This record gives sequence, C-alpha cells and structure tokens, in this order.
Amino acid sequence: MNTNSSQSLLTVPTGPLKISELPPSYGDVDSGYTHLSLVIPTYKERDNIEKIVSILSQLLDESIPGKYELIVVDDDSPDRTWEVAQSLMKEYPQLRVMRRQDERGLSSAVIRGWQAATGNVLGVIDGDLQHPPEVLMQLLRSVEQGADLAVASRHVEGGGVSSWSVVRRFLSRGAQLLGLVILPGVLGRVSDPMSGYFMVRRSAIANAKLNPVGYKILLEVIGRGKVNQVGEVGYVFCERKEGESKVTWKQYIDYIHHLVRLRLSTGRVGRLSRKVNFPIGRFIRFGFVGLSGVFVDLTVFYLLRTVIHLGLTRSTILSAGVAIINNFLWNDLWTFGDISQRQGSPNQRLKRFLKFSAICLAGVILQALIINFLFNVLGINEYLAKLIAIAVATIWNFSINLKLSWRVTDVK
Ligand code: GDD
Ligand code: MN
Repeated sequence: MNTNSSQSLLTVPTGPLKISELPPSYGDVDSGYTHLSLVIPTYKERDNIEKIVSILSQLLDESIPGKYELIVVDDDSPDRTWEVAQSLMKEYPQLRVMRRQDERGLSSAVIRGWQAATGNVLGVIDGDLQHPPEVLMQLLRSVEQGADLAVASRHVEGGGVSSWSVVRRFLSRGAQLLGLVILPGVLGRVSDPMSGYFMVRRSAIANAKLNPVGYKILLEVIGRGKVNQVGEVGYVFCERKEGESKVTWKQYIDYIHHLVRLRLSTGRVGRLSRKVNFPIGRFIRFGFVGLSGVFVDLTVFYLLRTVIHLGLTRSTILSAGVAIINNFLWNDLWTFGDISQRQGSPNQRLKRFLKFSAICLAGVILQALIINFLFNVLGINEYLAKLIAIAVATIWNFSINLKLSWRVTDVK
C-alpha cells in the first residue's frame, strides 16, 4: 500500500547466477565498506524473522558495527514474511529485504542475495533459528584468519543434532555417503557438506557460474568455486520452534540430480563431455530411466506370471508395455526435460509419446522373439531370458529414440 516502503525493497537481480568480482555499487547509497553480507533465505518464516534479525543485529553491532548487512531473500511467502521483514528495516538499518516473485528455490535465493550483496565475505544462515547465531563470529574469524570458506558443521568437535530420529540421522548420513561416492572431491572436503550455514570469500566464488538445482548450495560453492583453505566450526542443529521445514521427498531427488550434474560438469567427465561433444549426462539419465524400467518390467512380469498365471508371451508384452509408459514419463520429464519444456503443448507431448511407443513397440516384438528363442529353443531359464531380451531392446530403444523422438541431435 505504502509505495515508499515498497521502494526500499532490493531489486531482484536477473540473468545468470554469477557473483561479480567487485560488489555492485548502489549509486545514491553512501554505504561505505561492507565486510560481511549475510543472506537469510526465507519461505514462510513469519514467526521467526523478527527474532533472528534482532539476535543477528545485536551480535554484529557489537563486533563490526556498520560494516555488515543482513539480506532477507523471501520467495513471496504466502504468510508475507517479506512484509514483516520490511517493517523491521526502520529499526535495523543494516537490514535489506528482497522479495522474489518470479523465481523459486533455496539455492537460487541465496545466490540472488549474494548478487545484491556489497560485502567481501558472503554468508548464509537459515531463517528459522535452527542455526545458532553464536557461531557466526567464529565463522567470520575463521575467514579473517585465512579460510576461503568457513562451514558450520554438525560433525566436528562441539557439533551435533539436538533430537533427531534414527530415520532422519540415517537419511542424512546416507545422503552424505552417496555424495562421497559420486563426488568425493567435493563432499570429501568438509565434514558436513549438507550445511546451509557458512561464509565464503567473494573472491573464491566470483565469476563461477552457479547452478540453482537443489537445496545444498554449499556443494556448488565447493564444486565450482576456487576454495583452497577450509575452516570448520562445530554447531548443534537446534529444533525448530516456529513454522515448519520445507524439506520433502523432492529435495532428495533434487540432491541426487545435483550430485550427478556437478559430477558431469566439473572435473574429468565435464572436460571429456565438452571435448567429445557427446551428451554424457543425457545418456546416463537415459540409462537410469532404463534401469527403473527394468524393475517395473520385471515386477509386472512376475506378478502376471505368479498371480494371474498369464502365458509367457502375453506377460512379456504386457509388462514391457507398462515399462514403456514408465520410461516415457521419466524421460520426458527428466532425461529430455529441457527439450520437452520448449515443446510443452499436450499435442506435442502426445506426439512424442506415440513416437516413443512405436519405437518401443518394435522393441517389444524384438523381446518376444528373443525370449521365445532363448527359452523354447535354447532352454534358458525364463527370467534370465527375459533379462537378455530387455537388454537388447534397451540398446535398440536408446539409439533410435536418441535420433527420432526428442531430436536431441538437433539441440546444440
Ligand atoms: N527463499 C527461500 N526459498 N527460502 C527457502 C526455500 C525457498 O524455496 N526453502 C526453504 N527456505 C528457507 C527456510 O525458510 C529456512 O530459513 C531455510 O531455508 C532452511 O529451510 P528448512 O526447510 O528449515 O530446512 P532444514 O531445517 O531441513 O535444514 C537443512 O537444510 C538447510 C539448508 O541447506 C539442514 O541441512 C541445514 O543445515 C541446512 O542449512
Ligand atoms: Mn530448518
């Protein structure tokens, strides 16, 4: 309503998610030198925002008065967190607020906040008070003493979680382990790669093109930045008192997606992929989808054979049909998701599905021929025969679909 106060919101940066070497200058603001810019990403944190801003301001006013800024980046929360934050700006002059209406997601929120930041040290802290503010000064000291990156960690001396269930601990450690296998060079550098509480020197991530996928922005910073020295500070992940966590199963999928993406675009594989100009990433995604199809196929096949006692040929055809639908959906959504998005009408999707099915149908006939030959003529165990049939059909499907259904060869 009040246009004056809405003018004081930060403009949302657009374009690539890149941090500039030099801080952006804000012409009319005589801001002086900013040492630390701390981003607080929020989504529906109305009941937490005042408390965290007040605690952080008090802490920083004591140690680096006037040399810091707090940047709340809110994704247009339906509870109007941004508005609450905005109303605090009068009382806390170092507070700035960004309301994003066109973009979503934790990682890009943090990056957009850093893009608007004027500090030489860029930091992030959750807005729900689960990250103890007391650790903040230790992180800053670590950077001042030479670290390019200082991470608050649950897994070093002084760190921990307050009261997590066995399941949550298991999932968290499982995710870390998986990451270590896929990306040892990144996850192996810190004890708590899942941390969303850290500080990094601007110079360490300047000019790196950061990716918005996933919840774990720290992986991007380590994977794509120039981080030589790492400092770690123990902290206890507190329980939430207000609001609720935004983590759903989707974050787990995003996480795996993120790991694979980083793996493919950094290091040896990335260089190779660019050199030979082959879509290795796409190929691997297609492979994963194919694998999911094998499970679907075998499960349905098993059910048809043992529960309904359907014949061998019919079971083979039906189960393969279900697998085709499964594979199409995942391929369209994920493997070729970027291309599908540009051809998004239901009509185009239907066309893709028909093409895909036609190619796969030929694959199914191929399967039926192979399984009959292997089982009836050579006497091979029917499940083994089915597996071999699937493998041959998969190779067929990949090579033809690559050329026809999504026309991937036409893209870049
Ligand atoms: N702007 C914006 N956009 N903020 C978001 C979004 C989003 O899409 N999703 C979550 N947030 C904000 C929340 O409001 C909160 O301040 C913070 O990000 C963390 O979200 P939670 O949903 O509370 O995550 P958590 O409690 O599971 O924390 C885990 O992930 C954090 C982020 O990586 C832990 O691993 C933390 O250590 C970690 O910091
Ligand atoms: Mn939280």
